[in-house]
Amino acid sequence: MSHPIIAHVSQLDATGDLGTTLPDGRTIFMVRVHGRISAFENRCPHQGVDLDGGTDTFLEGGRELIQCSRHGALFLPENGECVFGPCQGRMLTSLPISIDGAGNIRLSSQ
Ligand code: FES
Repeated sequence: MSHPIIAHVSQLDATGDLGTTLPDGRTIFMVRVHGRISAFENRCPHQGVDLDGGTDTFLEGGRELIQCSRHGALFLPENGECVFGPCQGRMLTSLPISIDGAGNIRLSSQ
């Protein structure tokens, strides 16, 4: 089974976050916090809208937590749990990824 490449780790070097669109049309984003890369659907659990509001920015200023640009809600990068804001306690949809030896980020399953 082939796991599609969705990005390269170097694309996260500048800001630690990156948004992209999957071939099936879903918008997703990746973040790298303390060296760990995680990926989520770009959709807030409480309003069903994109988190970045078109800004392509997914981390707060400290680059440690995912932030909704619309409401300032904060989410844990390790599991997508909302820890502050209108959707507190709810989860972003996490996407399983793997990173191959060449630094390609691959979607493990859909
Ligand atoms: S859209 Fe849900 S916290 Fe902003």
